[in-house]
Amino acid sequence: MSIEQLADIARAMVAPGKGIIAIDESNATIAKRFEGVGIPNSEENRRAYRELLLTTPNLGEHISGAILFDETIRQSTRDGVPFTKVMMDNGIIPGIKVDKGTHALAGFPGEVITEGLDGLRDRLKEYAALGARFAKWRAVINIGEDIPSGTCIDANAHALARYAALCQECGLVPMVEPEVLMDGDHDIETCWEVTEVTLRSLFDALYQHNVMLEGTILKASMVISGKGCEEQASVEEVAESTLMCLKSTVPAILPGIVFLSGGQSDEDSTAHLNAMNQLGPNPWPLSFSYGRAMQSAALKIWSQDLVNNVAKAQETVFARARDNGLAALGQFKG
Ligand code: 13P
Repeated sequence: MSIEQLADIARAMVAPGKGIIAIDESNATIAKRFEGVGIPNSEENRRAYRELLLTTPNLGEHISGAILFDETIRQSTRDGVPFTKVMMDNGIIPGIKVDKGTHALAGFPGEVITEGLDGLRDRLKEYAALGARFAKWRAVINIGEDIPSGTCIDANAHALARYAALCQECGLVPMVEPEVLMDGDHDIETCWEVTEVTLRSLFDALYQHNVMLEGTILKASMVISGKGCEEQASVEEVAESTLMCLKSTVPAILPGIVFLSGGQSDEDSTAHLNAMNQLGPNPWPLSFSYGRAMQSAALKIWSQDLVNNVAKAQETVFARARDNGLAALGQFKG
């Protein structure tokens, strides 16, 4: 696939007023989400839940793509239609999570490195054949006492760059996700510093590995106070800090930036995105790639009646997509 074709996909992922729904929870992560609302974590429940999300009526009006997990990209609706076909028919680009999760970084207590590079080229080829057009890899940076280390940041940036180069070789748009976690009692300035160093390291590694930025999407965490910080930054402060940090680190040639929600409330995630777009024009489209902030309300509703609450849960998914789509334009009124 040519760089022009990759760039076309990347641009479609951040089309005006549209964003991504992240439903790529591993079986271990969805087990936690299901457990929280009392749903047994069976393969059929996982399939039925993803069918509910992906068949939400008119979802394609505000959703450009969805990130799937390995199990999900191979699954179909109850009527036997592959999920990837349902998505394409609704104008939703199939994406796939390709990292294999985080593991302790040897020699650096409290820090993690994302694994999954071994055999990745063959897995990417298979995912492309199954219909995926973009692929996500999540690196995690923890903030704490004396962490993160430069070693952890650079090791994760290096892995992201190797994965991104492989994606482009296999005709997939890499969605590179260096997530600076909200966990901890650090203030917003600390988050800003860590995010800035992380993004510098990432774009340096992408350059070193000949990754074409025109065919790459950044999935970023916002610059925000730690969850346990006594002083929580305002919506305006989060929006301004995040924008300043991104403008000083991310090349303008990138087709777009999407944010993760990372444990923010539904309201905050929408308000922050909206505020950033109201501060525009910005060098890139800024949109969303939310997991929890797209799904948690719907999951709660579905958990109350797995048979009869499907339509009601889908209304919530659509409402979250619409609100975040408006926020991607800076037009959310609250
Ligand atoms: P959250 O929006 O729930 O943080 O999930 C997004 C995601 O894909 C994390 O990798």
